[in-house]
Amino acid sequence: MADERPATTRLVAGLPATVPFVAPEAMERQRGRPFQLRLGANESTFGPSPRAVEAMRAAASEMRWYADPENYDLRAALAQHHQVSLEQIVVGSGIDDLLGLAVRAYLEPGATAVTSLGAYPTFNYHVAGYGGVLERVPYRDDANDLTALAEAARRTSARLVYLANPDNPTGSYASATALHAFRESLPDDCLLILDEAYIEFAPAEAAPPVGADDPRLLRMRTFSKAYGMAGARIGYALGTAEMMGAFEKIRLHFGVNLAAQAGALASLADADYLRGMVASVAEGRDEYTALGRELGIPTLPSATNFICFDLGDAARARSLMAALTERDVFVRMPGAPPLDRCVRVTVGMPAERAAFADALRAALAAING
Ligand SMILES: Cc1ncc(COP(=O)(O)O)c(C=O)c1O
Repeated sequence: MADERPATTRLVAGLPATVPFVAPEAMERQRGRPFQLRLGANESTFGPSPRAVEAMRAAASEMRWYADPENYDLRAALAQHHQVSLEQIVVGSGIDDLLGLAVRAYLEPGATAVTSLGAYPTFNYHVAGYGGVLERVPYRDDANDLTALAEAARRTSARLVYLANPDNPTGSYASATALHAFRESLPDDCLLILDEAYIEFAPAEAAPPVGADDPRLLRMRTFSKAYGMAGARIGYALGTAEMMGAFEKIRLHFGVNLAAQAGALASLADADYLRGMVASVAEGRDEYTALGRELGIPTLPSATNFICFDLGDAARARSLMAALTERDVFVRMPGAPPLDRCVRVTVGMPAERAAFADALRAALAAING
């Protein structure tokens, strides 16, 4: 028989065999040893609100039913929370899922999307997967270079611009005023995707008022970070009703599970828990900054639940990563220059912060010889 078999599309055949992230579980399998401190993915190690845990536990016994594909109760609560209408919200399996929908809905194959070089990679993964072209703009002064991003968008007639605010991996943020000016400097037919995964940790001035009425702005939020529900996979997009209508045509309607919906709803109602956790993370950022100062490693200012320790150059950052991994600490390094001189560490609970401080001291002593 001739060697004939079903072929993937040319687009898929041409994609590199990469994933956005190698997960700590895969690293543990490779190492043959578990991590003792998991501070590499900016999850909230504080976990979900106890009320959310209770709601998810109760949902477990209802799992024989499909969940509400309209995510109605959660969208109603979010609409109330943000003072927008139900039609301006789509719930998905995290921002990662929603980024895919945005790319699929708004980026023709061959059209250009603009992002910062070394920014959150899942956006890039979707752009490649849907046949788009990426234009990457280097960070400047350890922050997104809004002027250069806008210039790149105009030069390439980009249809999408991706911006995380606050940003991962730098931890920096642009003010609502700067974001407004940025939006105005983009072509009118270019959609700005504002990824607000870390917005709950940031000062109020980082968040433009939520009106969801600008057809050139799509915002994304998640229950993975401040709400401590990364494993539940749930987040939402805020945009115009027309934009969300486009998402409705292509989203996976039963993709968000029942426990995630129940947990998110309960989390949203527990503002006290959120406030307490955000305050503890702010203390933790200060502790990491002080630790860096003590050890002669500067830290980048951060409006998120992680801190970048600046090792000065990529080789030294890689050595520190290896020394921390050796001590069973999972952290990550930004992938592209100039930020690959840093090691990025999640701000965990007080005991984890103390354990990390010990590990960092030991790892640093090891690489300094
Ligand atoms: C900037 C940014 N966006 C999105 C995500 C993922 O969000 P979700 O868990 O909602 O898919 C992350 C997670 O690290 C992130 O750093």
